[in-house]
Amino acid sequence: MRQVIAANWKMHGDFSWAAKPAELAELLDADTIDKVDLVICPPMHLLAAMEAMVEDAPVTFGAQNCHAETSGAYTGEVSAQMVAETGAAYVILGHSERRQYSAETDAQVNAKAIAAHAAGLITIICVGESLDMREAGRADDIVAAQIKGSLPDCVTGMNTIVAYEPIWAIGTGKVPSLDDIARMHAGIRARLTERFGESTADGIAIQYGGSVKPANAADILAIPNVDGALIGGASLEMDSFAAIAKAARDYDGL
Ligand code: PGA
Repeated sequence: MRQVIAANWKMHGDFSWAAKPAELAELLDADTIDKVDLVICPPMHLLAAMEAMVEDAPVTFGAQNCHAETSGAYTGEVSAQMVAETGAAYVILGHSERRQYSAETDAQVNAKAIAAHAAGLITIICVGESLDMREAGRADDIVAAQIKGSLPDCVTGMNTIVAYEPIWAIGTGKVPSLDDIARMHAGIRARLTERFGESTADGIAIQYGGSVKPANAADILAIPNVDGALIGGASLEMDSFAAIAKAARDYDGL
């Protein structure tokens, strides 16, 4: 399976950042561009501008959220259709920061995913346990419940990526052991197989996210069932994002 390396810029970036994809192109070799799917998910104001400003960049773009309704009186929201209209191909849904700060539930993420698929977007649906849950031995159950609740029945290998992001690893420099990541990703693949059948489940990329850096990317991406990475901090500088992309070039994830 192709590795998908996605940048989550969160609430970082001004218009000058529209130059970053061109900067990235300079740093990448043809083999990496050929073999790895690169995605940048900037804040909304940049997303709308970037497609127009960036030509021939070796990346596709995505949003960090969308609303479940097509249109309506929802001040401050952006629909999946509107995201698609910018030229974006992806949308991140259910990131733990949205679950935490905007109280997003599995049911809402599920409804957003249905809307996103209807708009032709590929959803990157995030799941992951808190430190408390992990220490209580509940990580597997929590992730299983999030997968059950957040993924709609219309999920296919073409329209969905699952991102496993343990909350305690996001922005902290802490990373689970390689064995823990391997176990969790195999568990996620098993849940997807139970729910969607083997051929669909095998086509769904499972990203790891949480403190991925150039120094640990190759080890993480070499783990079976790790089909890419969702990257926050290390995606803000193009040299570290490019280094992670190059690490992805050599792994097919299965
Ligand atoms: P991080 O963020 O790479 O800074 O840990 C990952 C994420 O939140 O998607």
